Amino acid sequence: MSAELVRRAREVMRNAYAPYSNFHVGAAIEAEDGTIHVGCNVENASYGLTICAERMAVGAAVAAGKRSLKRVAVATGVEPPATPCGACRQLLAEFGLHLEIIAAGPSSERRWTLKELLPEAFTRDALS
Ligand code: THU
Repeated sequence: MSAELVRRAREVMRNAYAPYSNFHVGAAIEAEDGTIHVGCNVENASYGLTICAERMAVGAAVAAGKRSLKRVAVATGVEPPATPCGACRQLLAEFGLHLEIIAAGPSSERRWTLKELLPEAFTRDALS
């Protein structure tokens, strides 16, 4: 249920480690079986090592044995709600362009399919 997914994304956003950008992000992924897997951004003094919230959440889902993913909520503190970065779109695409993406700010939400956010995606189909 997407209200619960957004709630979990906002909750984990509070754990973001973002002392350099001060831009806190939380992500919650709902797998096809209804389980929820969360992540937040983790920055580093060596800036390029920063990991986005969405990629942490994908890692958590896969580590829990979930590869069939249904939707992703991304929570930030800005309006309009921030969308997943290009790298995260690409990583999410590995698990299906059908994924629903929900971007949640403090007072509004926006929704797309991943296919809308990443048209003409490069996927494993190209490798065959
Ligand atoms: N960030 C995310 O966690 N997800 C995104 O999709 C965009 C950016 C993080 C990375 C960095 O810690 C901070 O937001 C500012 O770019």
